[in-house]
Amino acid sequence: MRVLIVGSGGREHAIALAVARSPRVDKIYCAPGNAGIASVAECVPIGAMEFDALAAFAKEHAVDLTIIGMDDPLVGGIVDRFEAEGLRVFGPRKNAAVLEGSKAFSKDLMKKYGIPTAAYESFTSPEEALAYLETARMPIVLKADGLALGKGVLICNTLEEAKAGVREIMQDKKFGSAGNTMVVEEFLTGREVSVLSFVDGKTIRIMSSAQDHKRAKDGDQGPNTGGMGNFSPSPFYTEEIDRYCREHIYQATVDAMAAEGRPFTGVIFFGLMLTAEGPKVLEYNARFGDPEAQVVLPRMENDIIDVMEACVDGRLDEIDLRFRDNAAVCVVLASDGYPVSYEKGFPISGLERFEGKDDYFCYHAGTKFDEQGRIVTNGGRVLGVTALGRDLREARAKAYEATGWVDFANKYMRTDIGRAIEEA
Ligand code: AMP
Ligand code: GLY
Repeated sequence: MRVLIVGSGGREHAIALAVARSPRVDKIYCAPGNAGIASVAECVPIGAMEFDALAAFAKEHAVDLTIIGMDDPLVGGIVDRFEAEGLRVFGPRKNAAVLEGSKAFSKDLMKKYGIPTAAYESFTSPEEALAYLETARMPIVLKADGLALGKGVLICNTLEEAKAGVREIMQDKKFGSAGNTMVVEEFLTGREVSVLSFVDGKTIRIMSSAQDHKRAKDGDQGPNTGGMGNFSPSPFYTEEIDRYCREHIYQATVDAMAAEGRPFTGVIFFGLMLTAEGPKVLEYNARFGDPEAQVVLPRMENDIIDVMEACVDGRLDEIDLRFRDNAAVCVVLASDGYPVSYEKGFPISGLERFEGKDDYFCYHAGTKFDEQGRIVTNGGRVLGVTALGRDLREARAKAYEATGWVDFANKYMRTDIGRAIEEA
């Protein structure tokens, strides 16, 4: 069969490699893809928001299944567009992708259906938000309602910071129209865990857990990023926690969406905080995490196409989702200065060291071919160096060893990805 993947980051590279492992697939396209994805898929220069061109391409090339990796096209309604053309597509429709696309929607949903989450209030007027903050306890969390490249969350320690945050989000519109509505949320403490799942509208199958490292610098210092590395499984996601989440969070979310007339098909990403009072939902995403996909997918035993087709056809209950009893660690090699300002266009050496090894992966996040056909850096996050091991310790040692195989100017990484496993 022929598969089209929409997106261009490390997540889409991980999806492409998982699709390539399926014996059912004989052709993979990726739009727009990157220099690493080009080694497993034919990259086509169509942007992820060019719905007309993507649908036309899928028809013309007799694509059997299109997989949407990114949030923007999902929230923008690409799935509805493909379905209207009679094309098979994996991902939520627009009315379900709102689970990620609007934080006010997801918070109201959790409140209505009793799904554990931080206490909150939503505001459409900055004056009301400011008045509320005068009486609120600090620290407090401000969230722009809409998509903001993972940057629309401000954690404020003082009233002054919070007031400045309201101005940034609602008045200066730092995150554009995403800030027309703002959620003000109770500050939670605990360990964070990412749990991905497959959903077919009514049934949910949980993938193995992962833990992300969002801050730029060692010791969780520096600004928030898209993610500097992660590992799977999380040793802090115990069986007891899993049981609680299955009972109170996962199926409850799927049932709530169905009850609202917004059946969810695709991947739900549960961003959880393991608080002293139990697990609470920090956020939902309507897609695989990046870099969560890079550590979770290589551990999955099932053929990803079987699972995705079961979601599209509403027969996920027939799938026994299984993960290997191993571990994976991903260390992101970034351009120094990310996420604030950085240079790009530097040639990358050593990529061939990963060829032919099935327990090491070098996912491309921000790379491209230059005019001379060399692979050069093309983003803040450049590569996701990942290794599998029998356990987290072994995977971590192997991943860090492999970060030395590749080089480029201004290469930067955190040195403490997965150090938390020593405390487990
Ligand atoms: P979100 O996009 O909602 O996941 O927020 C991004 C990051 O901000 C999360 O991964 C957490 O580290 C942090 N965060 C979000 N909400 C809260 C909260 N209520 N309390 C503490 N930290 C939070
Ligand atoms: N790694 C977090 C995300 O994909 O949103």
